[in-house]
Amino acid sequence: MAEIKVVYWSGTGNTQAMAEAVAKGIQSAGATANVLGFSEISAAELAKDSKFALGCPAMGAEVLEEGEVEPFMTELDNLLAGKKVALFGSYGWGSGEWMSSWQDRVSSDGATVVNGEGVMANNAPDDGALAECEALGKALVNA
Ligand SMILES: Cc1cc2nc3c(=O)[nH]c(=O)nc-3n(C[C@H](O)[C@H](O)[C@H](O)COP(=O)(O)O)c2cc1C
Repeated sequence: MAEIKVVYWSGTGNTQAMAEAVAKGIQSAGATANVLGFSEISAAELAKDSKFALGCPAMGAEVLEEGEVEPFMTELDNLLAGKKVALFGSYGWGSGEWMSSWQDRVSSDGATVVNGEGVMANNAPDDGALAECEALGKALVNA
């Protein structure tokens, strides 16, 4: 059975809850989900897989978290061609600019963004956002 990695960073648990819902969706579509923090895997190791999910909240001023996620993405940029990538993350007060930038970046690296766009949740994901995360996990299995 295929194993699909869900790699995320979360400061206060909101994106972590989304990661768990993405994993649930992956499992409901018949694959195995492996949920990991960005500090637990290298970009080179992740890039051995053809599809995976990445989660990060809006941080800084509409950017990815700068300690772990941005350095990871800098390495991953060169390894993303041909991959299928599901994106998700929580935000607070913005308009989702960090996710638009992330989608554009992943696309210009040559990867396909699963479902065409990332799933965003405002602060703690509500039931609707969790359902969107599960659907994203399913779509990733079938991508
Ligand atoms: C240092 C810092 C910077 C943030 N920057 C933004 C931002 O630019 N735009 C935004 O919408 N939310 C911003 N937020 C809010 C977080 O994205 C929001 O609290 C989110 O739910 C955190 O997700 P997490 O629980 O997975 O860490 C920021 C939060 C922190 C702590």
